[in-house]
Amino acid sequence: MAQLVPVETFDLVIFGGTGDLAMRKLLPALYHRDGDGQITPDSRIIAASRGELGRDEYLALVEEALRSNLADGEFDEATWRTFATRIHYAQADATEHDQWGQLVELLNGVADRVRVAYLATAPSLFGTIAQGLSQNQLITDASRIVLEKPLGRDLESAREINEAIGKCFAEHQIYRIDHYLGKETVQNLLALRFGNSLFEPLWRRSAIDNVQITVAEDLGVGGRVEFYDRVGALRDMVQNHLMQLVCLFAMEPPSSLDQNAVRDEKIKVLRSLKPISPAEVGTCTVRGRYTSGAIDDETVPGYIEELAGADSSTETFVAIKVEIENWRWSGVPFYIRTGKRLNRKHSEIVVQFQDVPHSIFPEQQFNVKPNMLRIRLQPDEGVQLSIMAKEPGPGGFDLRPVALDLSFAETFGVRYPDAYERLLMEVLRGNPALFMRRDEVEAAWEWVDGIIASWETSKQKVESYVAGTWGPSSSSLLLDRDGRAWNQED
Ligand code: BG6
Repeated sequence: MAQLVPVETFDLVIFGGTGDLAMRKLLPALYHRDGDGQITPDSRIIAASRGELGRDEYLALVEEALRSNLADGEFDEATWRTFATRIHYAQADATEHDQWGQLVELLNGVADRVRVAYLATAPSLFGTIAQGLSQNQLITDASRIVLEKPLGRDLESAREINEAIGKCFAEHQIYRIDHYLGKETVQNLLALRFGNSLFEPLWRRSAIDNVQITVAEDLGVGGRVEFYDRVGALRDMVQNHLMQLVCLFAMEPPSSLDQNAVRDEKIKVLRSLKPISPAEVGTCTVRGRYTSGAIDDETVPGYIEELAGADSSTETFVAIKVEIENWRWSGVPFYIRTGKRLNRKHSEIVVQFQDVPHSIFPEQQFNVKPNMLRIRLQPDEGVQLSIMAKEPGPGGFDLRPVALDLSFAETFGVRYPDAYERLLMEVLRGNPALFMRRDEVEAAWEWVDGIIASWETSKQKVESYVAGTWGPSSSSLLLDRDGRAWNQED
């Protein structure tokens, strides 16, 4: 395990401190980092929220959340007692800036330490919270602000948020979260590409036939249905998580891991994405929505039933043929797909290499399969390379693909920290490399807005798929048209 160094003493204010994200992700992440000795005794985690709660009442909520959200055996009484001493509560309505007395009182007089405002709230409140911090003179030179996604719902609203935050904070103080960048296996993509000399010569159009990226979830939208219905899979997952995966996969080698070196390369990929016109959108994209079905032998309701029968044109599945117009990737399709209530939770990148140029195995020529590199992002993180091998035996010359398979869990034998553990520590250390820069967010929105506009112009329908499958049949057609198929294991 990499060496863990405590971060500088800090005050971290979580707006939305009683919300789902704080309880499910942020506090468990901080609990783990504290348990590993990375949080100094004087550091404070200040939950800010509308509710009139005393500190003890808030601590009771946190304890309950930790007990239910930590994995089995991870809750430890002694670690909790220490962690609880770091936690404070301040009543603060995001829009009533003159009533932030409790917060001001906690922060006044301690301006000499790292101060982070984490906005785990609806994006519509981002601007007003930044203003409140400014009006109450709570922004110092050592202040940072963290913005949770979604950052707007299109380019225009993202720009408005960026402008509003930019009035109070300098760009280097702004941390826009995409939690996929905090995932160990997503960072491993950098290790795979740039820590090995083996792959780089092959990482291009001359060797690769196509790239397939799948981020599949078995869960439905559940309690978030109202929020989700205004968003859909394209905005919720593609604009951020899948675009980041495409960027890290396709970017040119950065000169270092420096925050701007990597982000400068990612933005070039985003700017090279071929826009999808209304004429092409029907053959390059698929929209789907789940109907009721079975997952793990359990019957699950359809999306419209979860919406209590309301009418909706929102997609819970999207597949897109992405083209990157540059020298490295011209002519190599990136097929990406993501959806809710699919067969199982499963995210991976599959690289399909070119066919051999000429088969010397005439009788079995159709048996020579292209090599495949499968980068499993979650679960069972690892890398698998399939190569052709001869079946043992003195008879003919039969070939079959066999896999060189590496499971990270087996190799390293350690717990994989949640993405938020890494990201929170990076904010506290002042390293924005794993966060999205303003230009990245806006370039991704520009491309996604183009698809939404094309859907509207062409009136592209949302197709049904049964929960527990791999999406609508058009998803297979998307590749079939190009003479290809999804390379999935089952
Ligand atoms: C979030 C989306 O950003 O990512 C959710 O809003 C989605 O809809 C989640 O479920 C998936 O994250 P993970 O880490 O479980 O793959």
